[in-house]
Amino acid sequence: MTGRIIGTGSYVPERIVTNEDLAKLVETSDEWIVTRTGIHERRIAVEEGTSAMASRAAERALENAGIKAEELDIILMATSSPDHCFPNGACEVQAAIGAVNAVAYDISAACSGFEFALSTVQAFIRAGIYKTALIIGADCLSKLTDWSDRGTCVLFGDGAGAAVIRAEKTGVIHSVMGSDGVKGPVLSCVARSEGNFLNERKPELGYIYMDGQEVFKFAVKKVPECIRQVLEESKTDIEEVKYFVLHQANYRICEAVAKRLKQPLDKVPMNIGSYGNTSGATVPILLDELNRQGRLQRGDKLVLAGFGGGLTWGAALVEW
Ligand code: ACO
Repeated sequence: MTGRIIGTGSYVPERIVTNEDLAKLVETSDEWIVTRTGIHERRIAVEEGTSAMASRAAERALENAGIKAEELDIILMATSSPDHCFPNGACEVQAAIGAVNAVAYDISAACSGFEFALSTVQAFIRAGIYKTALIIGADCLSKLTDWSDRGTCVLFGDGAGAAVIRAEKTGVIHSVMGSDGVKGPVLSCVARSEGNFLNERKPELGYIYMDGQEVFKFAVKKVPECIRQVLEESKTDIEEVKYFVLHQANYRICEAVAKRLKQPLDKVPMNIGSYGNTSGATVPILLDELNRQGRLQRGDKLVLAGFGGGLTWGAALVEW
C-alpha cells in the first residue's frame, strides 16, 4: 500500500495587501517587487492565527475527500509559525475539526514542511501503522516579519493548505528529503525563548532574517537536484510528469528550476502573484487550486517540491 492524495483544501485570509500598500510602509515599488519576485499582492491575517487557517483548510480537504474527521488516524501540521509553543498546532486542528481518533503533532521544516509531512505519513502508511492521514502546511509569517525591513516584508503572505492521504494501491511513488544545518543561518528566525533567570536576558522578539542571494543560489541548485533524484530513484522519465508543483518563493526561482530541468514553464504552475510566499502552505494551496480547477486527472504524475529554512528540501513523485 502507498499513500494517495484523495482530497485537498486551502484557506487564505480575506485581507489583500498590495504592493502599493507596502510602498506606503517601506521604500519600495510595485515595479521592484514584481520584477524581482513575481508577487503582486498577498493575504495577511488580521485576527486569525495559524491553527484557525489550518482548521479551515483541513475542513475543506475532508469535504473534498468525502471522509469524516473521525476517520483520521494521524494529523501532521507543517508550520514554522505555530500560535503557541504548546499545545502544538495539529492538536488545535484536531480539536477544531473533531478528529477524535487521530494522533496529532507538528513538523518544523519551514517551506519544505509539507513535503516532509507527506514523506512521514507515507512511511507510516507503507509500514501499515496508519491508513488515513491529514497533512497541513500552514504559516502566518506576517507575525514574524519585521514590517520595516523592505528586504523581507514584501515577500511573504499568510495561508494554509491541506491534503487527505489514504492507503491505496497507487499514490505516492517515491519521496526524498534533505537537510543542511550548516547553512541554516542564511534563513532564520530567533525563537522567543532566549532568556531565563540565570542569563538575565529578556525573551527576544524574533523576526525573519534572510540572505536572499544565498537562498536563491541554494534553491536553484537543490530543487532540480532533488527532483532529478526522486525521478531517477523511481525510474521515471521526466517527460511523464504533468506538473511540477514547486514551493512558491519567487517567480524567478521557478523559472530557473524549469530551465535547469529543460522543462517548459507551463508545466510549472504558479500562483505567487496572488499570495506571495506562504512558506509551508504554498505547495498545498497550489495543489488545491489545480485540483479544484479540474486540471488533475486520475493517473497524472506530479512532482511536489519544497525548499526552505534549515536549510531543508524535499520532493515527492505522486500519481494522482
Ligand atoms: N524594494 C526596493 N529595493 C529593495 C527591496 C525592496 N523591497 N529590497 C531590497 N532592495 C534593495 C536592496 O537594498 C539593494 O539595494 P542596494 O543595492 O542599494 O544595497 C538592492 O535592492 C538589491 O538587493 P538584493 O538583496 O541584492 O536584491 P536581489 O536582486 O537579490 O533580490 C530577493 C532580492 C528578491 C529577495 C532575491 O534575493 C531572491 O529572490 N532571493 C531568494 C530568496 C527568497 O525568495 N526567499 C523567500 C523566502 S525563503 C524561502 O521561501 C525558502
